[in-house]
Amino acid sequence: MSNPSPSKRIALGSDHAGFPLKEWLKGKLEEAGYECYDFGTHDPQSCDYPDFSAAVAHAVASGQFDTGIVICGTGIGSSIAANKIPGVRCALCWNEYTARMARSHNDANVLALGARVIGSELAWEIVKVWLETPFSGEERHKRRLGKISALENSKTVREAKTLC
Ligand code: RB5
Repeated sequence: MSNPSPSKRIALGSDHAGFPLKEWLKGKLEEAGYECYDFGTHDPQSCDYPDFSAAVAHAVASGQFDTGIVICGTGIGSSIAANKIPGVRCALCWNEYTARMARSHNDANVLALGARVIGSELAWEIVKVWLETPFSGEERHKRRLGKISALENSKTVREAKTLC
């Protein structure tokens, strides 16, 4: 696949485990013409992924950035943290298919990657698919996203009920 068209402002963040991959992807993105803002971490010292993930998530939820990429060892902690910020739909993707579906069906706005799970070349392929794939806009997907928003807005925890 060729380089994606650079029409987006991208917020980047990682912990120490994701630091080398973040630096490498930032180089690829800038080389491809994207405008990146790096929320850290800025060195390989041990640090806490929620700090950087939350910074990226706020940057996207506030509309300052079109999309964000958060990276930790597995991508799991970063995605959990990002999804605590209202308006964020963070998807942990490990191949091109999951990236395509996260954009097309879920209109996900933050991508989480696991630097200890996937290699850098695969990560770049995932990022390219992520940046090139629009939300399908289909009614059924909009309806489901509406239900996710409703969950986000209901701040209470209640007992589960069966649906059928
Ligand atoms: C750090 O050792 C590791 O726990 C973190 O990068 C991440 O994988 C958490 O989900």
